[in-house]
Amino acid sequence: MASHLSLAFYLFAAVFPSSATALTRPPRRPSAIPVQATVPSGAGVPFKSFLSYSIEFSSFPDFAGNLSSPNVFSNNLLNNLGDLAGTKPYIRVGGNTQDYAIFNSSLDVASIGILNTNISSDYPTTLTIGIPYFESYHTWPDTKFVHGFNLGRNSTAARQALIESVPYACEALQDGKLLYWELGNEPDLYKTSAQGPVRPPSWDEQDYVDEWLHWTREIRKAMRQPCPQLASWNDYKYYAPSFAGSSNSLDPIETWEDGLDSDKDIAVITSHNYISGAEVPGVTLQGTLMNHTSNVISVRKQTNESRHLAALPDHLEPNLPFILGEHNSLYNQGRPGLSNTFGATLWGVDFNLYCAANNIRRVHMHQGTNYRYQSWQPIDTNKTNKGTKAPYYGNIAVAAFLGDLTKSPPSVVNLPLPSEQESAYATYTSSGKLSKLMVINLMEYNATAGNNYTNDYPRPIERYTFQLPSDVGFAKSVKLQRLMANGSDAITGVSFDGYSYNYELENGKPVTLHNVTRGEVLQIDGGGRLCVDVPRSSAVILDLGC
Ligand SMILES: *[C@@H]1O[C@H](CO)[C@@H](O)[C@H](O)[C@H]1NC(C)=O
Ligand SMILES: *[C@@H]1O[C@H](CO)[C@@H](O)[C@H](O)[C@H]1NC(C)=O
Ligand SMILES: *[C@@H]1O[C@H](CO)[C@@H](O)[C@H](O)[C@H]1NC(C)=O
Ligand SMILES: *[C@@H]1O[C@H](CO)[C@@H](O)[C@H](O)[C@H]1NC(C)=O
Ligand SMILES: *[C@@H]1O[C@H](CO)[C@@H](O)[C@H](O)[C@H]1NC(C)=O
Ligand SMILES: *[C@@H]1O[C@H](CO)[C@@H](O)[C@H](O)[C@H]1NC(C)=O
Ligand SMILES: *[C@@H]1O[C@H](CO)[C@@H](O)[C@H](O)[C@H]1NC(C)=O
Ligand SMILES: *[C@@H]1O[C@H](CO)[C@@H](O)[C@H](O)[C@H]1NC(C)=O
Ligand SMILES: *[C@@H]1O[C@H](CO)[C@@H](O)[C@H](O)[C@H]1NC(C)=O
Ligand SMILES: *[C@@H]1O[C@H](CO)[C@@H](O)[C@H](O)[C@H]1NC(C)=O
Ligand SMILES: *[C@@H]1O[C@H](CO)[C@@H](O)[C@H](O)[C@H]1NC(C)=O
Repeated sequence: MASHLSLAFYLFAAVFPSSATALTRPPRRPSAIPVQATVPSGAGVPFKSFLSYSIEFSSFPDFAGNLSSPNVFSNNLLNNLGDLAGTKPYIRVGGNTQDYAIFNSSLDVASIGILNTNISSDYPTTLTIGIPYFESYHTWPDTKFVHGFNLGRNSTAARQALIESVPYACEALQDGKLLYWELGNEPDLYKTSAQGPVRPPSWDEQDYVDEWLHWTREIRKAMRQPCPQLASWNDYKYYAPSFAGSSNSLDPIETWEDGLDSDKDIAVITSHNYISGAEVPGVTLQGTLMNHTSNVISVRKQTNESRHLAALPDHLEPNLPFILGEHNSLYNQGRPGLSNTFGATLWGVDFNLYCAANNIRRVHMHQGTNYRYQSWQPIDTNKTNKGTKAPYYGNIAVAAFLGDLTKSPPSVVNLPLPSEQESAYATYTSSGKLSKLMVINLMEYNATAGNNYTNDYPRPIERYTFQLPSDVGFAKSVKLQRLMANGSDAITGVSFDGYSYNYELENGKPVTLHNVTRGEVLQIDGGGRLCVDVPRSSAVILDLGC
């Protein structure tokens, strides 16, 4: 058996084959990418738990388990992120099924869902939840939640069930578990939804605002007796309006003009985002996901909304932080071969960091049982095995790059590069000193059959040279952490900094791999130049050690 050292060397040589130097490199990249000494104006500053999750309402018991059978694997994966970020990810429990969920206190199981495959094969469109559902809020220590109340179903029985659910929800989330509430998922789609409209075509922004105000006041009343603290002015707060996007049938700006925040109980403005859709013709890994331009355009739609809100007259301007309360790659739960690949992992790193750089202060990546874009599958089903999925490693890389956000969060900037198939970011410490760089190479490289290459086609390597500011301290060492897999189409064998988080190894806890290089160190030369080689379809963090 080969020793670890020689095996590591062998694999280093395999990832960095010498013949790759013969390949032509894109000529467009500047000879050195300039990095400013001080934080450029307009840099983003992420919130605590920047990399957070949104879990499909109907799937939450699968992800969290219950008191007699807690999902330890999920908790381990959340702890890994908490160890990097200082706090565990915040969990928004919601999505389409939040607006199907009807509470029934006589039900003795967490939930009963009925699938209507005419509408979706992925989640139930008829969903009843019982008191045991709320047990799932008790299985993950030190985790904060956003609980999504139903606004979509508005029969008299559904409205009554909503109010009856309030004491159970608030009692489960007392004692520090509540982040905020949410009422309604993507109400801007209520009258046009592909899953069936739940409001008439005449329903407008004012109607939405009136309903939202009415029911948030009713929920608060129902909370006063069981949970007086959570019903207090200080604590009774919402994520809102949770719209699908500004191009839909309600204009988010108008909802604020119509008095959405009249009660001053909104803490954070949330919007949802998907790059494109699973069934949209022409969607590809390289063209749609491994494409920095498509991320820029998608994020710009969101920052347009926050800019318009900031431009409202003073008495209407919410002056609240803006986040993505639900997002992922391709709506309709993602597409196999795209959303579950290492290419989508790299997409997630670029998209999330571009959000951070544009002051979108938190992102909740959506997932559900069997969803193709999920970061992990929480249980075994007849569609997918329980396990850590490729996108999770991108979540880890983002958290590692941003570091501990609890004390002094960094400023994040995007460093413009000439090609849309690559991107780079820098962070500065809260005292303004350049701290880390990250390069994400988005050039597709297929690892497995189905590619256009022979098996021994060497993986091209791109060289990136940074010109660093003098205050970094030249001629010093820089530590590298690589996000790696065999190629953009790989769905297994992903690692970050030489660690695997796979379920099969230690139930999601980090395990050092002996077949992947780690601990690489580079030197900044005397002129302040830093050169790093990045295999196509991979990313690297450069820690300047400030
Ligand atoms: C609630 O659940 C119980 C027990 O399953 C059932 O008998 C009852 O009909 C349900 N109530 C409603 C309103 O659906
Ligand atoms: C708790 O979860 C286990 C495993 O999924 C399940 O068998 C059990 O019925 C659940 N308990 C309740 C009260 O839902
Ligand atoms: C699904 O669609 C088929 C064909 O239109 C219809 O016959 C069936 O009743 C539908 N099923 C449900 C549950 O709506
Ligand atoms: C449900 O919404 C419709 C359309 O806005 C409205 O006419 C109806 O009164 C609502 N029903 C209840 C019970 O609130
Ligand atoms: C990348 O995305 C942009 C914006 O959607 C698009 O115009 C461009 O064609 C895409 N690139 C490729 C290679 O498909
Ligand atoms: C920007 O936001 C405004 C206000 O919501 C909207 O009218 C406009 O269409 C948006 N533009 C883009 C490019 O999204
Ligand atoms: C797969 O599991 C689902 C949910 O438990 C079940 O409804 C379905 O019949 C199963 N399908 C097969 C092919 O076993
Ligand atoms: C990778 O494989 C996909 C699917 O077979 C193909 O469409 C794409 O062109 C390949 N890309 C490269 C760079 O070989
Ligand atoms: C495969 O590679 C050959 C040689 O580079 C090229 O001519 C051909 O267009 C490629 N086919 C596809 C589907 O990318
Ligand atoms: C990755 O490539 C190595 C070296 O060719 C191979 O041994 C390993 O099985 C591959 N991993 C996966 C998940 O395909
Ligand atoms: C390293 O080992 C892991 C676990 O056995 C495997 O999944 C992965 O494909 C290997 N990676 C390489 C580059 O060989």
